Amino acid sequence: TYVVLENCIKCKYMDCVEVCPVDCFYEGENMLVIHPDECIDCGVCEPECPAEAILPDTDPASESVMDLNKKWADIWPNITRMGEKPADADEWNGVGNKLQDHFS
Ligand code: SF4
Ligand code: F3S
Repeated sequence: TYVVLENCIKCKYMDCVEVCPVDCFYEGENMLVIHPDECIDCGVCEPECPAEAILPDTDPASESVMDLNKKWADIWPNITRMGEKPADADEWNGVGNKLQDHFS
């Protein structure tokens, strides 16, 4: 499966949902996650994310958020169309410790 990383938080560009062939993105207030049981590992979403916040679970950088993607994908609603990105999305791109400080 592919995994949405911490840098998605408060960036939430949503380009990813437009390209996913199986619509396996789920939407929280500040970020999206991928449902690991639904992702078919096609990889097309990875280069689409302006925040470089998507990686395969084979990448060590995805390890810390893998469980959270599964947990939240079971709870949050499915999203299939790109909405309006946050007005300050670009300002949050690359900010550290988002998971700890700004997740909701
Ligand atoms: Fe969707 Fe493919 Fe990305 Fe998985 S890797 S979330 S199937 S676009
Ligand atoms: Fe997040 Fe990137 Fe998608 S910022 S919403 S994973 S395009």
